[in-house]
Amino acid sequence: MARLFLLFILCVFVVSLAGSELVIDVQPNVISPEITPQLVINCSITNNEVQTLDLIKSLTLSRYNETIREFDELIALDSLTLNLKQFVRFKYSQISFGNRYITLILHNPTQFDARIYKCNATGTNSEGANISLFAKKAVEYETNSTALIEEIRRIKKDENYCSFKKDDLSDSKQRSRVYFSGSSDIIKERIEPLTLKCTFQVLKTDQNETSRLQSLYILHGSKMSYPPRKSCRDVNSTDERVVVTLTSGLKVMCDTKTDGGGWIIFQRRINGNVDFYRGWKEYRDGFGDYNIGEFYLGNENIYMLTSTGQYNLRIDLKYKNKAFFAQYSGFKILSEKEKYKLNIGAYSGNSGDNFSSHNNAFFTTFDRDNDEYSYNCAVDYTGAWWYHSSCLNCNLNGKWGSSDFAKGVNWYDLSRFDSSVSFTEMKIREI
Ligand SMILES: *[C@@H]1O[C@H](CO)[C@@H](O)[C@H](O)[C@H]1NC(C)=O
Ligand SMILES: *[C@@H]1O[C@H](CO)[C@@H](O)[C@H](O)[C@H]1NC(C)=O
Ligand SMILES: *[C@@H]1O[C@H](CO)[C@@H](O)[C@H](O)[C@H]1NC(C)=O
Ligand SMILES: *[C@@H]1O[C@H](CO)[C@@H](O)[C@H](O)[C@H]1NC(C)=O
Ligand SMILES: *[C@@H]1O[C@H](CO)[C@@H](O)[C@H](O)[C@H]1NC(C)=O
Ligand SMILES: *[C@@H]1O[C@H](CO)[C@@H](O)[C@H](O)[C@H]1NC(C)=O
Ligand SMILES: *[C@@H]1O[C@H](CO)[C@@H](O)[C@H](O)[C@H]1NC(C)=O
Ligand SMILES: *[C@@H]1O[C@H](CO)[C@@H](O)[C@H](O)[C@H]1NC(C)=O
Repeated sequence: MARLFLLFILCVFVVSLAGSELVIDVQPNVISPEITPQLVINCSITNNEVQTLDLIKSLTLSRYNETIREFDELIALDSLTLNLKQFVRFKYSQISFGNRYITLILHNPTQFDARIYKCNATGTNSEGANISLFAKKAVEYETNSTALIEEIRRIKKDENYCSFKKDDLSDSKQRSRVYFSGSSDIIKERIEPLTLKCTFQVLKTDQNETSRLQSLYILHGSKMSYPPRKSCRDVNSTDERVVVTLTSGLKVMCDTKTDGGGWIIFQRRINGNVDFYRGWKEYRDGFGDYNIGEFYLGNENIYMLTSTGQYNLRIDLKYKNKAFFAQYSGFKILSEKEKYKLNIGAYSGNSGDNFSSHNNAFFTTFDRDNDEYSYNCAVDYTGAWWYHSSCLNCNLNGKWGSSDFAKGVNWYDLSRFDSSVSFTEMKIREI
């Protein structure tokens, strides 16, 4: 009985250890300068394959030294006593071990860490004979980060990786983190584990330095310092409309599609949910809601933007489900002191020019009459506009849907004064 029991134990012992294999695992395989956060070298004995190491005595980790053409020992572990000897001190490192593995983690690895690593185990087989096994893996160094950066760009373009609402994009403080889902071999090979932040709206595609910096920020999850996004021209997106925060701090909606995109939309009406019959202060500071989709950016903001650069104006309209536009070469409005006086250039488009007649007019609201008409045009025609001496040829801040004479959202050549257009966007783009 006792002999049978012993045999049984022996069998279990042999079965459980007979299939051991020495494995060295390094992650990543390629070190990219500054980008790779850590190098993990894991030397372990697994039970995968038929080998004959029944009693493990030692595990040794070494790496190749080109100068002496030999492996320098880094760490040696006595597997029986768990006594660990470290032969090389690393500045930023971490070692963990058990009687079947040693793991060395090198933080911020450099090109000197890109070498061949060797793991080596000694022990005896079931007959008591001395056995030694080893496994090797090379780590490469790659200064060319092009492929990596391109991969990051590709991922950033794919908005499916980001699970947050589009509007969050504009608010850097609420920027969500997403975890990389692992379909990129390049990234996996070089920088796993990786945390990707969704920042794809802000990349300037053809600036190596910027995108390099950008990818570092992404990889290390640091605070972003955005590449300059002075206007909607610096925004690239597959969405036709995106809301972003410019470097000035101003939150704007961009039209990224129309005529090549790059437009800052300053007036938008799509459904009548926002009341546009408002006073001077509100037209000065702006009102509305990007989520609802209707807003006025504010005369002060329009003045600030157009006084620091040269802009074109485009007005997109819809009437009876047909799209029309008017474009003006040159557009600015003057300061509040100058009553936000309108200044526009030559017309082109297919809507008819019903805005040039307003050139050089001041802005009028129901509580601030700056027009040259005997009454207040804003009051008479339920809007707020650069009304001229006979009030208006167009009235895009008029009453939504109205067919009362000149009180609606009028563009004379389309709607006349007895109906309203059903869509307006006034937008500017830097020349
Ligand atoms: C190293 O290998 C051992 C054994 O396979 C495993 O338990 C451990 O999680 C590995 N460590 C790392 C950091 O991969
Ligand atoms: C290679 O070995 C030589 C001689 O032991 C040593 O001086 C040198 O620092 C080693 N090189 C590296 C990269 O560890
Ligand atoms: C494995 O390591 C031991 C101890 O350092 C050494 O004696 C032996 O030569 C090494 N074996 C191989 C195959 O490198
Ligand atoms: C196995 O190696 C040990 C030293 O590691 C030695 O003392 C022993 O004699 C060796 N046994 C055989 C069978 O070679
Ligand atoms: C850098 O990598 C890219 C993509 O892998 C490759 O097309 C390019 O030739 C490389 N540049 C250099 C200088 O090796
Ligand atoms: C990006 O870097 C590559 C290699 O250094 C260079 O040839 C290329 O001109 C750079 N592109 C730009 C837009 O700076
Ligand atoms: C926007 O992305 C497209 C597609 O990748 C690219 O062709 C275009 O040059 C980019 N435009 C800007 C302004 O970055
Ligand atoms: C614009 O509107 C006015 C009516 O207010 C009209 O007389 C004019 O012909 C319209 N179209 C053009 C191209 O000026």
